[in-house]
Order: sequence, then C-alpha cells, then structure tokens
Amino acid sequence: MDAIEVIRAKRDGVELSAAQIDWVIAAYTRGDVADEQMSALAMAILLNGMNRREIADWTQAMIRSGERMDWSMLDRPTADKHSTGGVGDKITLPLAPLVAACGAYVPQLSGRGLGHTGGTLDKLESIPGWLASLSNDQMLHVLRTAGAVVCAAGSGLAPADKKLYALRDVTGTVESIPLIASSIMSKKIAEGTGSLVLDVKVGSGAFMKTTEAARELAETMVALGSDAGVRTVALLTAMDRPLGRAVGNALEVEESIEVLAGGGPSDVVELTVRLAREMLEAAGVAGKDPADALRDGSAMDAWRRMISAQGGNPDAILPRAAETVTVQAPSSGVLAHLDAYAVGLAAWRLGAGRARKEDPVSFGAGIMLHAKPGDLVREGQPLMTLHADETARFERALDALDGGYEVADAARDLLPLVIDRI
Ligand code: URA
Repeated sequence: MDAIEVIRAKRDGVELSAAQIDWVIAAYTRGDVADEQMSALAMAILLNGMNRREIADWTQAMIRSGERMDWSMLDRPTADKHSTGGVGDKITLPLAPLVAACGAYVPQLSGRGLGHTGGTLDKLESIPGWLASLSNDQMLHVLRTAGAVVCAAGSGLAPADKKLYALRDVTGTVESIPLIASSIMSKKIAEGTGSLVLDVKVGSGAFMKTTEAARELAETMVALGSDAGVRTVALLTAMDRPLGRAVGNALEVEESIEVLAGGGPSDVVELTVRLAREMLEAAGVAGKDPADALRDGSAMDAWRRMISAQGGNPDAILPRAAETVTVQAPSSGVLAHLDAYAVGLAAWRLGAGRARKEDPVSFGAGIMLHAKPGDLVREGQPLMTLHADETARFERALDALDGGYEVADAARDLLPLVIDRI
C-alpha cells in the first residue's frame, strides 16, 4: 500500500477500506507517511467526508496507535465529560469534583486553549503549584484520594491524533465532522472511561455554528462511543453568548469556586448540575443529588482534595492582571446581544489565549461581564471589565468587541441553554 493510492481514492470520492485506514494511520504515526501527504488526505476527507464505517475504523486505528487506559481496578464506576469548547466554558472545574462527591470516579484528560476558546488545563494552571502532567500511577493516586483527576494526556495516548490534530490546525482541516468526531472519541475511548457525556456547543463561539451541524457531530460521536462499549450521551448546548460572567483563566477559576460554594451565575450552575445528573445516570450511580452536593459543601471538599493532590494550593491568591478597562453601555435599554465569538476573541487578544501552541498564556487576563443578554442596562453603566497585563493589548481587544454587543429596546431570541439531548 502507499499513501498516494489512499489520497487518490479519497480525492475521487471512493470509500476507504479498513486495511487502507489502518495502514495510513500506523504509517503516519511511525513517520512513514509524510506530513504533506497526510494533510492532502485530511483535505480530501474534509471535502468528501467519510461514512460511519470509515469514521469508526479511523477512530479505532487512532486508538490502536497508543495505549488504552484501564480503570477496572477501581471500586466505583467511571464517568467523564467532554465539551467541544466555547467561551467562558469552565464547567469541568466544578463538575469533576461534584460528580466525584456524588459517587462516581472522574478520570478526565483535558486540553489547552487554542484560538478564541479556553482550555481547562490553562485555567487550572493559574492555581499556584497545580501540575497538569501526571503519570498513570499518579492519576490513579489522585483518583483514589479525591475521586476526580483532571490532567494532560500523556504522549502514549492516541499519538496519531496528537500529530494529526497539530497538522490539521495549520492546514485548514480542523472543521471536518469525521475528523473532529474521531479525534475527540479516540482520546476519550483510549482514556478508559466507562461512560461519557458530550457537551456539544452550538453558536458563534463554538466549532459548530448551527444546531444541524452540532447534531450531526453529536450523533457521530455517540455512535462511536456506544460501538466501543462506552455508555455515551450528548447534550447540545448554547454558545451564542458566553457561559457565565468570567472569561479568562484565573477569572474562570474564581467563578468555578463560587459555584462550588453554592453561588455563581445561574447558567453555569444549571449546566453543571444537568451534566452531573447525566454523568451519574450514564455511570449507573444513584443516590446523591448534585444540587445537594453543591449546597452541603461535599463538592467543595472534593475540589480541595483534587487541587491539593495535584500540588496546587486551594487557598492561594490567584493571579490578577495589572491593568483594567471598563466598557460602558452606550445607551439605556436591554442588552440585546452579546456575541460569544467577539468576547472570546477579545479575551484571547487580552492574553488569555495563545496564538501558537508553544506560547504562554496570561493567567490574569480576560473579561468580567457585568450584564448578560436580556438584562436591563442604563447609559454609562459598566457592561464589562477587560483585564490585561499590558495596556497595549486593550485597543485590539476593543476592536474585537466592536459590533459584538448591542443595547436595544427589546431582547433578541437566544438559544435555550440546553437545546437537545442525543
Ligand atoms: N478537539 C479535538 O480534540 N479534536 C478536534 O478535532 C477538534 C476539537
């Protein structure tokens, strides 16, 4: 077999065989298929698609490129959640300890932010001392100590995806449902979780801009998980506006701690509790209601154990950016529109995200929203505060927000927070 034959087949709209897929993924992982050949194949897949059988074979081949973790030695079921990414999406932070406090183990491998969406590891790294990289034995120790662990995937887990995702990122081939579904699910299946809840975001701040595209991605991923023996469900949730009031690493950790303390913005609390119920149901764990675990302090206790077990100080003062600028309401009325993408792009330009994957992030940078869509505002009232380490960053962040919010006489329609369940 050779790479050109596989590329030509997909270019001409021919279905790839399991043998062709196995071969190309293994050869690419070894370095026998060159990056330029794999990027041509990824572009052919983006343009011509793959059917469900090809996507399943592609996912299995990526899993086989590395190790598959196993948690069968644990005495309780495992459950995980994956979000396709959004603006202000800090849900993993309160959710993982919450589900642990309700009786399931949560072994979560997470990623870093790229572009306008934030990454869970960047958020947690704003806690002084907290370590993202753990060995498998350390992961097991944190799971046994705290019931939940959130850490970076080691190099042994789906190495084919690690290489291919970096290549797709620089070749305009990220936005392909077969490639996104197989990328996410190969890592989640290899992670060894027994059940999985997918939070597929919809709207301007998400990969999937329409409910139809999100539904197709969700259905593809649920089928991949179920076929691999992982109990998988998906929620389609709103990302037309930011989630919560905080966007940016340390700012989002602070908001998550408010949720764990029984407070926090209502949309973050509602989605956290809903996802926790879904995870517990998928894991077959009955008993404690997640809303009670937020009220009685047990989720906060699990958070503190989880952070401490990974070297972090749960009582540490979090980093703050040196400079702030406030954006005021231009008139009185209703905040009719607050675009998730515009806010995400502004936070990125303030330093909360990175332009290249090796860049550092600013932990204190980001945006605090003082009003959410539908709120009444008065002219001159603060709408949001921008945080950055250098004043030079404000101009481009304000440009990103230009046209991204509107005060009007009446509210505009918003997507429901939970749009559908698959
Ligand atoms: N997240 C992933 O892990 N892979 C993709 O392809 C897109 C988002």
